Amino acid sequence: MTQSALAVVVLAAGQGTRMKSEIAKVLHPLSGVPLIGHVLSTASALEPDHIAVVVRHQRDAVADVVNDYVEDALIVDQDDVPGTGRAVELALQALPKDFSGDVVVISGDVPLLDSDTLHAVLDHHRAEGTALTLLTTVPDDPAGYGRVIRTESGGVARIVEDADATEDERAIEEINAGVYFVERSAASAALAALGTDNAQGEKYLTDMVESLHQAGHPVAGVLVEDSWLLEGINDRAQLSDVQARLTRMTVRGWQLSGVTIQDPASTMIDLSVELAPDVTLLPGVHLGGSTRIDSHATIGPDTTLVDCTVESHATVVRTHALGAHIHEHASIGPFSYLRPGTSVGPEGKVGAFVEVKNSTLQRGAKVPHLSYIGDSDVGEGTNIGAGAITANYDGSQKHRTTIGAQVRTGSHTVFVAPVELGDGSYTAAGAVVRRAVEPGALAMSIAPQRNLEGWVEQNREGSPAATAAKNASTGKKKP
Ligand code: UD1
Ligand code: CA
Repeated sequence: MTQSALAVVVLAAGQGTRMKSEIAKVLHPLSGVPLIGHVLSTASALEPDHIAVVVRHQRDAVADVVNDYVEDALIVDQDDVPGTGRAVELALQALPKDFSGDVVVISGDVPLLDSDTLHAVLDHHRAEGTALTLLTTVPDDPAGYGRVIRTESGGVARIVEDADATEDERAIEEINAGVYFVERSAASAALAALGTDNAQGEKYLTDMVESLHQAGHPVAGVLVEDSWLLEGINDRAQLSDVQARLTRMTVRGWQLSGVTIQDPASTMIDLSVELAPDVTLLPGVHLGGSTRIDSHATIGPDTTLVDCTVESHATVVRTHALGAHIHEHASIGPFSYLRPGTSVGPEGKVGAFVEVKNSTLQRGAKVPHLSYIGDSDVGEGTNIGAGAITANYDGSQKHRTTIGAQVRTGSHTVFVAPVELGDGSYTAAGAVVRRAVEPGALAMSIAPQRNLEGWVEQNREGSPAATAAKNASTGKKKP
């Protein structure tokens, strides 16, 4: 059979009222991808000659995202006539005049529909030579969907919308999934003749079914057993139901390719994430964006990584990291915060209650405790003592701190940037480093300590401290 022409029409003009959102429904994310992105990926997999997307609500925002996924998509603006029928009518008008062939109509809010299912039905549609083939299914709860009225011979006579249905019709369990395969000119002719005389005052795409059937064209309804494939997202409860299903599928896919995932229920993995075999994900791990994790790395528990690279044998415990690169055998956490531009070298360490931003730690460099390292370069094998702060911001500009290799800084050192510390230098506890430290030097900024004897008893008479001090000096034991 020769490959005939194909166009996909994606409906995305609706307001999505039931989402109660300022964001267009089709832009809400599912596993890190906007709903319309899922649908466009499926559409592209059919390798059609044209993809037309009908927009109206939040037109520019939707069009931008559409073009991110399909550069040459036709953006079709719906006019003031509401309804799915009008949307398809305008899309067909926007296709090149000389296009004749099959059109697949799908909704922007049905993200789990896959291209294998569409391919199979397209083949069936072409083999049978029907004018219109639509997908149907039997969901747990058919409320809200259009119901399928079959002919005696098993074709489809018409679709009745929930809002227009009689009680008997509402009892029908088979619903219209909103996915259609139709020949262009037959659809155009049928749609041009439709009105808006129904409960919602809209031009219903579903009325095309009855008009084609009455004109003597065969209309087929293909029942899809897995109704979840066709679940449309209309509100946020459905969004989270579909998210839960997609997460289960994603987790299972990674498990079967060799990733240990201890607790699927508390794990979220965006579709764009890449995991190697023998990665271990402990409970409460969320991986997003372009995150990539190499083998034998262990992530979690309770860790979020977005746009991060984690190399092999690294461990990342109770950490929040964005745009960080963690090299092999490095150790992060617990309770670390890595911000964009952070690179932790091989065998490096970022420990408890440490924040790192826009900084490079070379091989084996360690920041183990309670520190802020920003806009810094830290050399190989250097150890930053507890409570270090890079004072990188002078109130208007950011400056860099450059620390050499094999440096040892004392607890609570402040680096007043811009400042440089040479290889093998030391700082004393509490040092405030304002100017360059030569290699091998010890930087101190120590005011001599004075002890004022008897100060507490003189100035805090009768306080618990004064009593304790008095007892200590008279050698009396605590009561
Ligand atoms: C539609 C079908 C219904 C089917 C259900 C399956 C119609 C009249 N009804 O109902 O039979 O069971 O899908 O999920 O077609 N849209 C536009 N322009 C518009 C209106 C809607 O582009 O003027 C788009 C929406 O953005 C959405 C899609 O069409 O992506 C479906 O619209 P929606 O309002 O969700 O239709 P349903 O009420 O779900
Ligand atoms: Ca819908």
